[in-house]
Amino acid sequence: MAKAKTYFECQQCGYQTPRWLGRCPECGSWGTLVEERPVGDGPRAGGVRHASSTPLPITEVQGPALSRIPTGFAEVDRTLGGGVIPGSVILVGGDPGIGKSTLLLQVAARIASQGRKALYVSGEESTEQIRVRAERIGAMASQLYLAAETGLEAILDHGERIRPDFLVVDSIQTTCTAALESPPGSISQVREIATGLLTLSKERGISTCLIGHVTKEGSFAGPKALEHIVDTVIYFEGERQYTYRILRVTKNRFGSTNDIGVFEMTEAGLTEVGNPSRVFLAERSQGVIGSVVVATMEGTRPLLVDIQALVAPTHASVPRRVVTGADLHRVAILLAVLEKRLGMPLSTCDVFVNVAGGVRITEPAADLGIVAAVASSFRNIPLDAHMVCFGEVGLTGEIRAVRHAAKRLHEARQLGFTRCLVPETNDGRQGEGGEIDVIGLGTVDAMMTVLFP
Ligand code: TYD
Ligand code: MG
Repeated sequence: MAKAKTYFECQQCGYQTPRWLGRCPECGSWGTLVEERPVGDGPRAGGVRHASSTPLPITEVQGPALSRIPTGFAEVDRTLGGGVIPGSVILVGGDPGIGKSTLLLQVAARIASQGRKALYVSGEESTEQIRVRAERIGAMASQLYLAAETGLEAILDHGERIRPDFLVVDSIQTTCTAALESPPGSISQVREIATGLLTLSKERGISTCLIGHVTKEGSFAGPKALEHIVDTVIYFEGERQYTYRILRVTKNRFGSTNDIGVFEMTEAGLTEVGNPSRVFLAERSQGVIGSVVVATMEGTRPLLVDIQALVAPTHASVPRRVVTGADLHRVAILLAVLEKRLGMPLSTCDVFVNVAGGVRITEPAADLGIVAAVASSFRNIPLDAHMVCFGEVGLTGEIRAVRHAAKRLHEARQLGFTRCLVPETNDGRQGEGGEIDVIGLGTVDAMMTVLFP
């Protein structure tokens, strides 16, 4: 068979072309096309085809043995939907330095101490370095095997010999296969490695975690193409300057993608945070201007966070809008609603909005909190420190119902809040009542009357 011709592949989006181009016609990136050589020839190239499987009526297909392996971390298990599925492949993404290696080392050690076998392969650190770290964070287990390796073939070999239940490959960017000439981390390398490890996992029932570094834009550098190959994609997130870390699942073939796990990075590695609201509110100073607590939902879990706003007059022709932890466009809309509905001249003010603790809120239910914090700062009047709020704010200033009102109220009550501003349409459906004073609001005008009587 003739030797396959090389082709060029965009390292950003995976677009392929037979000739080199300066700019990728698919995603528009410059200088991202790299020459690649197809791996081998044979059936892949369209030659001989032999069926290795037999189609079966669906009723005769064996159901999977979905006995999940508990990781020893309730937060990880919850995120995955109840533990690791044997033979599944999980991609773990996150910024460099966020704590991926630490987390997976801890998980591997816990799995290994439950009478299972784990293998941790690192292409980034030596086995000595890993051991020192493991001793420090208490991740030592006799059934935890270590290897410092970057070659895919060697990793597959180790996998075959050790036959672990749980395999960690740290990281996908440092691993490469000799079958390809492209550099480690390139799209074809990453794809080939994932495919190789996937085959090993499925054949031997090994649960595999691939660690991948993420680019600033939030996509896996190169390995974006991997997301559809693997079973589960989780991101480990957090701001470097804070110690909280959030494990978030964005794809899960074996569970929902709703739940999150919350951790804290300490001297002794990552520890689980059982009650995140308490942590996120720990440093809140009460009764300050421009601060309010919102009851938001992270998956199926309520989370109380502190939203802060600072409104200051500006002399600049274009006022500044700086938002951390929330969506800038959403905030811009809410500011326009306040200006139009309540006549607050915010277009002559700089507005800064910050969600404390490095949390990111994407839920519209935080609207009411953002609006209340901005109003408080604008009026220069502090809000009731024992008050929580939630509700979506519409373009006409109406406050719209949100889901899970009862759960949010329950969490607020648990943490000792005594007053809760809710959408009028959510009011009265809470059932339990209790020591919390629930105030239903129909519009932002009504909110102002309640906040500043
Ligand atoms: P690491 O797991 O190496 O991150 P990643 O694999 O995502 O690149 O963790 C890196 C950071 O975590 C490092 O800056 C130091 C910090 N760290 C602690 O604070 N405590 C610890 O016990 C460990 C192991 C790391
Ligand atoms: Mg690492």
